[in-house]
Amino acid sequence: MKSEFIADVYHAAAEISKTTGYRPKLGMILGSGLSSLAESYECTKVPYGDIPVLPKPTVEGHRGELYINEDIAICSGRFHYYEGHSPDNVVSTVALLKGLGCERLIVTNAAGGINTGFSPGDIMIIEDHINHLGFNPLMGPNPQIDGTDLGARFPDMSRVYSPAFAAKAQELDGDLKQGVYIAVTGPSYETPAEIRAFSAMGADAVGMSTVPEAIFARYLGMEVGGLSLITNFAAGLGHEELHHDEVVEIGRKAADRMKKLVAGLVDWWLKE
Ligand code: HPA
Repeated sequence: MKSEFIADVYHAAAEISKTTGYRPKLGMILGSGLSSLAESYECTKVPYGDIPVLPKPTVEGHRGELYINEDIAICSGRFHYYEGHSPDNVVSTVALLKGLGCERLIVTNAAGGINTGFSPGDIMIIEDHINHLGFNPLMGPNPQIDGTDLGARFPDMSRVYSPAFAAKAQELDGDLKQGVYIAVTGPSYETPAEIRAFSAMGADAVGMSTVPEAIFARYLGMEVGGLSLITNFAAGLGHEELHHDEVVEIGRKAADRMKKLVAGLVDWWLKE
């Protein structure tokens, strides 16, 4: 992450705080088909187009808008590596949320189920991740603001995802899965051989996002909670070919359950 880029994003965040009067403590990034989660909150909406430092999102199912009120800031629309975005741009949403004042971050995504105990429609609490993207968002000079490092050069990643968040999620919805998320670049889905390899590596679900954001948030000292909506059996485990439409459709169908869970977690994390 370049110091100049993060300074520009923080500057844009400060402008948004000034115009809206909001300095929320909790941030959220919504994945494929989950943008309706943002509608539960009474918020001021700022289209990404009005935040010129952000890149423009391109993928179907991703609306590019920041929802913000005094408690929460929600990035509806994220930036993926497969779209051709640079690592800096991929984590720009996290920088924006941190710049707005967020100390905690909830990341959601759509993922393919690798664990044979998972079915489409299941929700998995992300317990840990495997970065299979081939880059780390912290590569390059350690960014500084006013001569001070934003975080450690070699930040610890032994506990990326908050165990308290996971425990609370389990308490709120008795039927959740828990496991390891592996991030791949996409945009092609995996081959069955890759899925067998990822299974042997210890992955329970596979997707094309979240890991850079979680790494960057931890680097910035934020607490992170993660949820994956399992939208399909990973390649070779189901009988069907994989289609993006299916990912978006399952997202829509499971939105109510996800909404209820996220609402409970938001209430709890705002008070904690
Ligand atoms: N693989 C990668 N990313 C995904 C999948 C998948 O099977 N489903 C949803 N996002």
